[in-house]
Formats: sequence, C-alpha cells, structure tokens
Amino acid sequence: MTILVTGGAGFIGSNFVLEWFKDAATSDEAVVNLDALTYAGNAENLSALSGDARHIFVRGDICERALLDHLLSEHRPRAIVHFAAESHVDRSIHGPGVFIKTNVEGTFTLLEAARDYWNTLGGDDKAKFRFHHVSTDEVYGSLKPADPPFAETHPYEPNSPYSASKAASDHLVRAWHHTYDLPVVTTNCSNNYGPYHFPEKLIPLMIVNALAGKPLPVYGDGQQIRDWLYVTDHCSAIRAVLARGRLGETYNVGGWNEKANIDIARTICVLLDELRPDAAGSYTRLITYVKDRPGHDRRYAIDARKIERELGWRPAETFETGIRKTVAWYLEHSDWVGRVQSGAYREWLAKNYEIRQ
Ligand code: NAD
Ligand code: TYD
Repeated sequence: MTILVTGGAGFIGSNFVLEWFKDAATSDEAVVNLDALTYAGNAENLSALSGDARHIFVRGDICERALLDHLLSEHRPRAIVHFAAESHVDRSIHGPGVFIKTNVEGTFTLLEAARDYWNTLGGDDKAKFRFHHVSTDEVYGSLKPADPPFAETHPYEPNSPYSASKAASDHLVRAWHHTYDLPVVTTNCSNNYGPYHFPEKLIPLMIVNALAGKPLPVYGDGQQIRDWLYVTDHCSAIRAVLARGRLGETYNVGGWNEKANIDIARTICVLLDELRPDAAGSYTRLITYVKDRPGHDRRYAIDARKIERELGWRPAETFETGIRKTVAWYLEHSDWVGRVQSGAYREWLAKNYEIRQ
C-alpha cells in the first residue's frame, strides 16, 4: 500500500514522513512525497531516506492537475495527506497572492484530482480511501483571555491572509465531502515546534538569532499566547485520525501548552544559558521589543478533548521536554541551520525586521 503526502519536505511534512517509517504500524507502507521545494521545502530534511525504496520524492506543484492525475493513477495511493501550503503569517501580510494560489487553488486542484481518482476505485479500496487535510487553529480567529479554548464547533473567524486562505481550504474540503461524498478528515492543529523548523518562525528564529548574538525580536508587548505542540505529537495525531477518525469530521489537535511569546523567548534564553553559555552574559540581554504585526491575533488555545475521547490521542511531550529537545537539536545541527540561511532567507529578514525598528 502507498500514501501520497503533499508538502513532505517542509517542517511538519518531513517530520511526518520520517515518523511514518519509524512507526511499526505504518513503516511498511510507501510514501509518494510531492513537494514544490519552495523556500520552505528542504529535501535535506529527508536525507536519512536516500536510497530507501519506500520513499518516492517528486518535485512538483499541487496546482498542476496533470501531474496529480499522473501520480494518482501511477501509484494508486489508499490515502492523501495534504500538508502543502504557504504557512507563514508575516509572509502572507507582505504578499498574500501565493497563499491564495497554493492554499486555496492548490487544495481545490488536489480535491478535484482526488475525486476523479476515488471514483475510479471500487469496493473496499473506495470505501477505505481517505483525504486527510492538515489545517490550523488560526482559522478560528483570536481568543480573549477568559474565553474557553477552541472546540471544533467554534465559528470560523480568520484574521490574516494566511488563516483566511486555510479557512477557505477547510471549507472546500468540507464541501467536497458533503456534496461528492469524498471521504475526508481534517485536523486543525495549534503551533508546532521541533526539528527542521524553518528559522523564520518564532522558536527557531529565537534560537538561531541568540546563537549568532543577534536581537531576539518580540512583536508588540510579547503577551500574545500560542498553544505549543511538539511536532512529532502532531504527526502521531495525524496517524491516529487517518487510521480511525470518523469521515467528514474535524479534530482539533493541541498540546495544552499556552505560553506568552515573551515567556517562550525567556525559556529559550535560559536553556541556552545552560547548554551553550555565552561569555557576554545571559542571552536574555538580546530580547528586543519591536513593532507589532498588523492584525496580530492575541491568543490561540485548543480544546483537544474530542481527539482524546474518540481516538485516545494525547501528546507524549510536555513543553518542558519538547523545548529542551528542540534547543538541543538546533545546537547539534548548526550545519543544517547554516545551509537554510541562504540569500533568500537574509532578504526575508531584511524585509520583515527593518520595518519594525
Ligand atoms: P512549511 O512552510 O514548513 O512547509 C510547506 C511545504 O509545502 C514546503 O515543503 C513547500 O515546499 C511545500 N509547498 C508549498 N507550496 C507548494 C505547492 N504549490 N505545491 C507543492 N508543495 C508546496 O509548513 P509547515 O509548518 O510544515 O506546515 C504544513 C501544514 O501544516 C500547512 O498546511 C500548515 O497550514 C499546517 N499547520 C502548520 C502549523 C505550524 O505550526 N507550522 C500548525 C498547524 C497547521
Ligand atoms: P509564528 O511562529 O510566526 O507563528 P503564528 O503567527 O502562525 O502563530 O509566530 C508565533 C508568535 O510569535 C506570534 O504571536 C508572532 C510572534 N513572533 C514574534 O514575536 N517575533 C518574531 O520574530 C516572530 C517570527 C513571531
């Protein structure tokens, strides 16, 4: 059997593919990994799989219908796990067009290809096929301090071009199930962190900037809250929903780890003070408040009781264990960090942070 993964060279997708082959329940099953290798995709994340016949990497775009049709008819997957997306809120503010293209049009194109392919299947193959859409808690908008965390029934109130494009893709997936019976499941997960996280996002940016002695830019007052989940816990949640989730349902996935951004920055500094002390003093000296993100959502938090109740899923890592592993990973992988900090990465830093000074 085979699954088709989109976006499997990105942060979560590459962790998912690596974890897939580590889990005894799935390790025999091949993965066709379709990824356009945008700035966020990195084939090096999958170097442990080079020469492994179970992993078939295809460089290509989910907006290309002919390529999707070809891959589906050639490999005949029993499921599609759809990660491919533009994923960074700040980039969506600077340039929303590509978010609409990949996240909305790309998901539409993939759904249509999946529908045509699924209609060619018969019997058990048709009944067991799954389209798993990987989405985000950001579609629900922003919580006030005393609000309960997001349940699956929370209204959609996306506030950024990124979250609006993901919300649109969630709606398409829902409609393809409702109208065409396409067997879909959707997961809406909170902020992930861990190995292979591209250092434009908060946690890896703080780690790599601190190690380089650069400012640690905290937007606004630093009191915005995110609910952090270690990436391999997200991967195990997706495997659980793919295997046992109810058709047409959405499952919220989170780590029960609400933290303010300023506390994330301080925690990273304290860990680095322990693991890589700097003669110049504590890394906390580098924390710098900068101009806020426009439309910045104040708080996200996930109510993950449905996935626990129905599928028995719970995160394996606490924030304390996960953030320690993450900092240690970045200390051990300075070569990886050096290679992703290309000219394009430096241009992004100039674009996003010069305007905040
Ligand atoms: P990422 O930006 O690290 O990776 C995205 C991957 O998709 C890259 O490998 C990129 O090359 C690929 N890609 C982009 N456009 C493509 C296209 N048109 N065709 C084929 N491939 C394309 O993103 P991530 O953080 O790994 O997120 C993966 C998914 O999980 C996204 O759908 C995102 O919305 C969702 N998600 C992310 C988080 C998070 O905290 N990072 C949380 C919840 C949900
Ligand atoms: P990010 O990692 O971009 O994820 P998201 O916006 O999807 O939640 O940002 C996490 C939080 O960190 C968010 O509240 C914005 C904030 N942030 C900073 O304070 N400084 C930074 O340099 C970055 C990239 C993010």
